[in-house]
Amino acid sequence: MLSPRSAIRTLPAYHPPLAGRSGLRLDFNENTVGCSPRVLERLRGLTPEDLARYPERAPIEEEVADFLGIFPQELLLTNGVDEAIHLLCQTYLEAGDEALIVVPTYSMYRIYMMAAGAKLISVAAGKDFRFPVDDILTCLSPRTRLIAVANPNNPTGTVASSADLLRIARSAPAAAVLVDEAYFEFCGETLLPERGNTPNLFVARTFSKAYGMAGLRIGVLAGDADQMRAVRLVSSPYNVNAVALACLPIALADQAYIACYVSEVRKARGRLERVFQSAGIRFWPSQANFVLARVASDKLGAASFVEHMRRRGILVRDRSADPGCEGCVRITLGPSEHTDRLLGALQETIAELGVTQGASRS
Ligand SMILES: Cc1ncc(COP(=O)(O)O)c(C=O)c1O
Repeated sequence: MLSPRSAIRTLPAYHPPLAGRSGLRLDFNENTVGCSPRVLERLRGLTPEDLARYPERAPIEEEVADFLGIFPQELLLTNGVDEAIHLLCQTYLEAGDEALIVVPTYSMYRIYMMAAGAKLISVAAGKDFRFPVDDILTCLSPRTRLIAVANPNNPTGTVASSADLLRIARSAPAAAVLVDEAYFEFCGETLLPERGNTPNLFVARTFSKAYGMAGLRIGVLAGDADQMRAVRLVSSPYNVNAVALACLPIALADQAYIACYVSEVRKARGRLERVFQSAGIRFWPSQANFVLARVASDKLGAASFVEHMRRRGILVRDRSADPGCEGCVRITLGPSEHTDRLLGALQETIAELGVTQGASRS
């Protein structure tokens, strides 16, 4: 009888709660208003011929390389950062190799690492989700072949310093080190300029978050040109669809739109953090477009909080099951009209559930 590989038979299923997402969607860290209107105009202008042809990635890669100030050979456009993670696993991991993550973090790292048959090494974040650089260094071994770090991290919003990340990359020269900058625009710090002198470093970016194009599925993986040649061998030549490729240059050209959205999100972050502070709710200062907060002492309390917000038309994400996140929810931020709605519902929910300083203290 046909049976999947043993690594797949033991793979835990990952089901993001995508069904029935009606209301204001503050649960997936998406852009809450969507892409630049110029992108929509481009979509309306697509012709049957645009869709009939196989997509041609290379010319758009040149434009993206120009935008990032790197050479086209140093990057690959991908079907979102998710595909970039998958390609790195396929390129560098043999069954039994060690792949390291810091938890809590983005779920897809472990899925792809485990699917490749790697042994997962999960290093716990430090106090207040600090980046555990010394613990990571201790866990490195000659079998460590891939290290993935989200920076800023999801779901915590915390950042690792460039110095710490480089220290790790230089201490593990035989490991691919992925710095996933999916939330770069909200934070502004990048390791991209280091790729030239750190050949095992890869930086990923996405157009799913600040650019509001999660539905188009497009991201970038950048790294040393020789390493990227190997990664490109694994990728389909048609991994990014024609619609996404047509829209990307237009999205990149409208930086005013991105700057305005990012500035709104930063303001919203401050407003939400002030509400948590005055309610005595524990939260972790974030460099991304979301904030993690402990709204209850346990999983049941967090689920009830999520349900009360949902009844008020606001979707937020229960992160209680993540290591160190008991009783926590993650709330995505958007522009001021969305923040007004969020804070209204939040204050009512806090009052109704009696979320108090004592109940929410870590
Ligand atoms: C850290 C991180 N990386 C990658 C992704 C997924 O990016 P993409 O939509 O480009 O696959 C997410 C989405 O939540 C994320 O939080």
